[in-house]
Amino acid sequence: MENETRKKRIFSGIQPSGDLTLGSYMGAISNWVAMQDEYDCVYCIVDMHAITVRQDPAELRRRALAQLAQYIACGLDPEKSILFIQSHVPQHAELSWVLGCYTQFGELSRMTQFKQKSQQHADNITAGLFTYPVLMAADILLYQADAVPVGADQKQHVELCRDVAQRFNGIYGDVFTLPEPFIPKIGARVMSLADPANKMSKSDPDGCVFLMDAPDAVRRKFKRAVTDCDSSVRFDREAKPGVSNLLTIFCAATGSTLEQAEVEFAGQGYGAFKSAVADAVIALTDPIRTESQKLMQDKAYLENIYRDGAARAAAIARRTLRKVYKKVGFVER
Ligand code: TYM
Repeated sequence: MENETRKKRIFSGIQPSGDLTLGSYMGAISNWVAMQDEYDCVYCIVDMHAITVRQDPAELRRRALAQLAQYIACGLDPEKSILFIQSHVPQHAELSWVLGCYTQFGELSRMTQFKQKSQQHADNITAGLFTYPVLMAADILLYQADAVPVGADQKQHVELCRDVAQRFNGIYGDVFTLPEPFIPKIGARVMSLADPANKMSKSDPDGCVFLMDAPDAVRRKFKRAVTDCDSSVRFDREAKPGVSNLLTIFCAATGSTLEQAEVEFAGQGYGAFKSAVADAVIALTDPIRTESQKLMQDKAYLENIYRDGAARAAAIARRTLRKVYKKVGFVER
């Protein structure tokens, strides 16, 4: 284990497989920002995960850089936190190979995300898609992370990571810190505006709000959001999934509680309610959009950030990997 007196460490990442969504902001990034002072934070742009499904190379490169600009615009501070691109730190792939030899085929077969993605990409079910959670475990364990702030959909992967770490530690002694998933109370699972039975995701552009959406696009998406034929603004996940999702989004955007929001919208029609939710979201996303557009103009600045981030990340990753190689019996270079 590293120095016991260190601050607790956080690791998390997002795939540059699409532009950042309101779901990933509420489920993950808003917590990442909040954790920067108290924890030692490492935040990654996981481009190696993104190629588990086919990507357009030019788009992938553009989005990775845009994602860095958006991270910073959301409030991630490169002075406080390590911000880097996964493919710049080769230890991720190296540890992933080792951990793959301590992960069961059966464990990977049970992963919900694999089952879903292999349905969505039935013509291209690659070994990479299958072993995706092993690479994710390597991401987390390389940094000896204590906690991993993610949305609810990633909990299963963090649990698998813990199981693999525990198995490895059981054989070789305390090599890895066991990470805990950190899942927010509100916003852990933002649902699609077009179909509130499904998670908001970048693959469903109608039901998905992107952080880079202009205000009129955000307004249009909320106006069309699916609700129900009742007319009361009340939280009830089962009976009123659309309205409950909008309430959740409102609360995550403004910081108010569900009770306060219900009181605020009591007696108001869905039209007024939806437009208030849109306003709250725009108040949140518009400064992020403007700031990231500005940052995208300064490629040299972004380049400095990701280079410095990769150097700092690699210094930590190398220590862990060296230890792992020694434990499994590789001859030292
Ligand atoms: P990804 O890129 O799909 O999503 C990024 C983060 O956003 C959260 N999220 C949501 N939260 C609430 N509501 C939603 N609708 C929503 N959509 C996405 C996700 O839970 C996630 O936290 N495997 C990861 C990326 C990854 C990773 C890691 C995460 C790779 N290595 C190591 C943590 C630690 C993924 O696909 O996230």
